[in-house]
Amino acid sequence: MQPTTKDLLEKLETKFSAIGQDLDTHLEGLLYSEPITYWDYIKTDALLSLQIQRTELPDEMIFIMYHQVNELLFKMILWEIEQISECEHITAPFFSEKLMRVSRYFDMLTASFTIMREGMDREQYLKFRLTLTPASGFQSAQYRLIEFASTDLINLIDARFRDTIDRDTPYEHAINHLYWQAAGKDFKTGEKSYLLSSFEERYKQEFIDFTQKYNTTNLYAKFKLLPKKVKEDPKLVKTMRHYDHTVNITWVMAHYNAAKYYISGEKPEDNVEATGGSDWVKYMHPKYQRRIFFPEVWSAEEIKNWGQDL
Ligand code: HEM
Repeated sequence: MQPTTKDLLEKLETKFSAIGQDLDTHLEGLLYSEPITYWDYIKTDALLSLQIQRTELPDEMIFIMYHQVNELLFKMILWEIEQISECEHITAPFFSEKLMRVSRYFDMLTASFTIMREGMDREQYLKFRLTLTPASGFQSAQYRLIEFASTDLINLIDARFRDTIDRDTPYEHAINHLYWQAAGKDFKTGEKSYLLSSFEERYKQEFIDFTQKYNTTNLYAKFKLLPKKVKEDPKLVKTMRHYDHTVNITWVMAHYNAAKYYISGEKPEDNVEATGGSDWVKYMHPKYQRRIFFPEVWSAEEIKNWGQDL
């Protein structure tokens, strides 16, 4: 039943007096306030003023906008993960429903990668990219936050160093051995490239704080805390596998293939260096990175063969 005007006024009186406010002043304010519009609410003018090219090549605009779309979706993903992480009494349907939202966002990103692979002119890309060195999507902080919020830190450590790191290892040290350090570090000298050092200078503290926050509330930690019966719910297991596979195999391969098309070109002599300067052909392939967020939902055989058939 619709509340009456009298009911609404009583409720408003209760609400405003609880915070020491005079209801009449707020009601009178309604006489003068402007009605909301779509453009004020969505902030379209601000949003559409953020696409600034560094060259006059038209396809650079696609490159900028597609990255921005990715960042917005990354934010949506982090938003959903936070709901799971902060929920104290999680049920299998709640977990699955939120995780499926996250997976669908990642499915969107994966499917839409053709916009990068087929939606730009390679000749133009090879020109405007020269103005972007040494920046790289590698420096997307939200992408790293998604990883930290998805799994235990140990699963993001470079496989070569996992035995040297446990729950008592200081965060600073663990972060120095994350798998993605390999893209920007000479492991013989330990020297970091500008790609990596500038990224860390800007975000390292934020990453440490975030990792601490998600230490016991990341998706995998939350899953492991569920009662055995809930953990074995086939729909939940399927959702966990889907998310892990989408992020760590399907998206990675869509990205890898785009990189291959633009950077390697059709013939060996077309090969150029990545803007971030990493040994990307090796670094980006799932069979080398072996990133797996939820090892418990895969068989030993599946883990052994991760990314091998690609
Ligand atoms: C033409 C399109 C693209 C090319 C050629 C490309 C190329 C590369 C390369 C070569 C790397 C390795 C680091 C380096 O040396 O730069 C990299 C890393 C990365 N790129 Fe892209 N990229 C493209 C589009 C995108 C888009 C749309 C996103 C979305 C935000 C993105 C996000 C990332 C991320 C997160 C990494 C780090 C991946 C990891 O650590 O495994 N890239 N990219």
